[in-house]
Amino acid sequence: MSKPILVANWKNNPNSPQAVDTLLKGLSRRSALYKKIAFYIAPPLTFALKVGEKASKLSKLAVQDMSTVGEGVHTGEVDKNILKGIGARLAILGHSERRALGETDADVAQKVSTALSAGITPLVCIGEEVRDEDGEHLKYLREQMFNRLSGVKVGDASKLVIAYEPVWAVGKNAKGAVTAENLAETVIYIRKILSDMFDRKSADKIVILYGGSVDGGNAGELYANTGIRGFLVGRASLKADDLSEITEAIL
Ligand code: PGA
Repeated sequence: MSKPILVANWKNNPNSPQAVDTLLKGLSRRSALYKKIAFYIAPPLTFALKVGEKASKLSKLAVQDMSTVGEGVHTGEVDKNILKGIGARLAILGHSERRALGETDADVAQKVSTALSAGITPLVCIGEEVRDEDGEHLKYLREQMFNRLSGVKVGDASKLVIAYEPVWAVGKNAKGAVTAENLAETVIYIRKILSDMFDRKSADKIVILYGGSVDGGNAGELYANTGIRGFLVGRASLKADDLSEITEAIL
């Protein structure tokens, strides 16, 4: 079995280069722990070089979005080849916080194709706004997967990483994490949809992560027997001790 995966989504934090140094120092103290997992840090783009260089023994570099306009005169854009050139290995795509800023499923589909063409692993977020008893939210997940992964060829499917991130569980206004029972059911459903879209063999190879209010207290239960391979972590990824607790819980 391959290593558990942890992706630290720093979002729009920390707010200074010094604070990045402090956080990286805290994480480096436990570097032996992070060697046991596949650990990615997705910092704000301004700190990507710093994180890529200073944390190269600890983690791989990830990015939080991906431009699709290509090389050339596009003010404000950062091309995939620039990201690849500074060592980006994975891109978080379709996060609900980007959708809240107007990103559509068609945009995400384009970003997924762009990442694949650059050899950067697309970590595609999916997740319902509300969970209901009748399973309507599952239809929503299905639609999101079909729309967002529409451009992926069967031969590329195994390169995908899916992060199930129910919107109601993400960020500081969250209602808390999903239960382990609901997570396990949802992962089975996601895998079924993936095998309808691609084929069973490819679908089985696609890594599924969970994200939303993960912390040291719930990580162990959410990881055991739910079919996920690891976590996409927001708030708890900004504190070295919290992240170490999560890592210990999944080893
Ligand atoms: P959270 O965020 O861990 O702060 O809930 C998760 C995410 O947005 O990826």
